[in-house]
Amino acid sequence: MLASHVFTVFLRWALGFLFLFFAFHTILRLVRRYRKFPIPSILTELIDNSVRRRYIQRPDVLADMMDLQPGMVVVEIGPGKGSFTKAVAERVLPGGILFAIDIQESVIERLIARVKREGITNISPRVDDAYDLSFDDESVDRVFAIACLPEIPEPVRALREFHRVLKPDGLLCLSELFMDANYPRRSTEKRWAEETGFALKEEFGSFFVYQLNFEKKTP
Ligand SMILES: C[S@@+](CC[C@H](N)C(=O)[O-])C[C@H]1O[C@@H](n2cnc3c(N)ncnc32)[C@H](O)[C@@H]1O
Repeated sequence: MLASHVFTVFLRWALGFLFLFFAFHTILRLVRRYRKFPIPSILTELIDNSVRRRYIQRPDVLADMMDLQPGMVVVEIGPGKGSFTKAVAERVLPGGILFAIDIQESVIERLIARVKREGITNISPRVDDAYDLSFDDESVDRVFAIACLPEIPEPVRALREFHRVLKPDGLLCLSELFMDANYPRRSTEKRWAEETGFALKEEFGSFFVYQLNFEKKTP
């Protein structure tokens, strides 16, 4: 009797939570559809939380899917709090460097403080714009963006810039998760990348969390 009561209460809470989550998510998606803007840096702290890192999008797993080698030059677009940044930077040591770029100064200032605090030597955070990166043509081994590309109002324009800075054998790694209000379907991101001279090399994950690796099409 008590067990069935506890179960009913639990079920009600679970359904209520799911309803609220989907209602909130739908409203956010509608807002984001018509108005694109960088999410406030305080929210980037919230989305980089331990539940996501442990059960949904593990930084070490994500880094393993990027085929990283020591000595590589990597550019991350929109690093947020820097947990994914750190996992990737570790894999290009010794000799490699990760440039973490974001359009928001507050995100970069917070990351500079973290890098200093944790004594990380191969992460270089800088304010930069995905539309106009301060890197030479064909100078970068990996460009990656996690839950970031669909937040940029003109993703195709940004992809053209990623194409410019990537070496001919470089990789572009895009990772998305359903909980993000800007979440695009895989087919959408593949279409954007195809339009800008990329060819799909590998894909990982599920409908809810995925990663797409693209190489440059050979001319
Ligand atoms: C949703 S956050 C993702 C943070 C982190 N990658 C994560 O998954 O936790 C997206 C980030 O992209 C940055 N961003 C948006 N538009 C940008 C642009 N045009 N150039 C560079 N960064 C941009 C935002 O400032 C924000 O910090």
